Amino acid sequence: MSVRGLAGRNIVLGVSGSIAAYKAADVASRLVQAGATVDTVMTPSAIRFVAPLTFQSLTHRPVVTDLFDPRSELSIDHVALARRADAVLIAPATADLLSRMAHGLADDPVTATVLATAAPVIVCPAMESHMYRHPATQENLERLVQRGVRVVEPAAGRLASGQHGIGRLADPGLIIGTVRQVLGRNGDLSGRRVVVTAGGTREAIDPVRYITNRSSGKMGHALAEAARDRGAAVVLVTAAPVGPETAAGIDVRPVSSALEMMAEVQAAVERADALIMAAAVADYRPAAFSSHKVKKTQDQWELRMVRNPDILASVRTTAVKVGFAAETQDLRENALAKLKAKGLHMIVANDVTAPGSGFESDTNQVTIIDRSGRVEELPSLPKMDVAHEILDRLVTLLP
Ligand code: PMT
Repeated sequence: MSVRGLAGRNIVLGVSGSIAAYKAADVASRLVQAGATVDTVMTPSAIRFVAPLTFQSLTHRPVVTDLFDPRSELSIDHVALARRADAVLIAPATADLLSRMAHGLADDPVTATVLATAAPVIVCPAMESHMYRHPATQENLERLVQRGVRVVEPAAGRLASGQHGIGRLADPGLIIGTVRQVLGRNGDLSGRRVVVTAGGTREAIDPVRYITNRSSGKMGHALAEAARDRGAAVVLVTAAPVGPETAAGIDVRPVSSALEMMAEVQAAVERADALIMAAAVADYRPAAFSSHKVKKTQDQWELRMVRNPDILASVRTTAVKVGFAAETQDLRENALAKLKAKGLHMIVANDVTAPGSGFESDTNQVTIIDRSGRVEELPSLPKMDVAHEILDRLVTLLP
């Protein structure tokens, strides 16, 4: 059974006393919506910023605020949550909490859980810029990193003090994506390098116009996330905008045109175990790029187009190659012809005329065909599930 994100995972969410504590409620909510069981533990100062009831309501679990509260599980067994955790996430982590963690203190429910757990620990610092940059804080962070703690760096921007600088709690999507990556680090793609392409390339006509297609990047981004969640080191070459949850732990290479995508793919596949091309690459580009905006002086405008190179067919690599085939007719025949012509190990045939399938939708209905001629028709599934189905088959093809 492959690792699939957060579903069924036990996450201990440690909250310390920063104004960013209110943002931890959003993190808790997203973890729960993704299927995780979330136990919240709070420091005494955290409960001055946000009521424990907020977390209790979002997670449907009791919140621990006091190691000696007779109603708390921790008063009977102070390491119960630490033992059960698949990951301990500290968001926000104040300078004070980082210091106490670095020195191995265990005098509140958060530090006691961190000290007692064998699960991976992820900290998300949030504090005023000077506190964050202070050598004491940086030394504490360095010490924690050396012990294997994963740090989600704070963002720069407006701080509660009114100043601008580094210290804002990282984007909740980035936090969740990092938790997913950490949970999947020993998955069945651990140690593998996977290159994924996504989105529809843009072929520029002039500085304000381009030709593109309807690809949103959802299918390719789901593949990149799923591969990351199963332990792979992922390079995502994409022509679509990337959200923070997708980007977490992924080497994102934004591109625009087919030629740019080709150059990035060629550079990335040299050390890759697999290349999965879900991108809708434009087959043609304008023969010439006008450096000035083309004026509407004529009634008609004929645009000459030239062929783009076929990236999948021409890329030099020993990686396992997986292609997609977006088809509107003769699905299997056309997909099989592409598998042979492009020297692929597997092709994912996509009937882009079926409702809820193909471009832009959140679901996809595909038929997977491999080199041996095996054909598997899958039902309509969320794109993340389709991604895992593809990866389930890819792992069997890796040497
Ligand atoms: O992005 P979404 O909105 O989620 O939509 C997903 C999708 C429909 C784009 C995706 O599921 C899909 O089918 N992607 C392939 C689209 C496509 O361009 O198919 P094709 O049959 O034209 O190309 C066949 C394969 O060759 C593809 O893997 C393509 O990436 C690759 N190709 C195509 C042209 C080219 N010049 N170079 C290539 O490498």
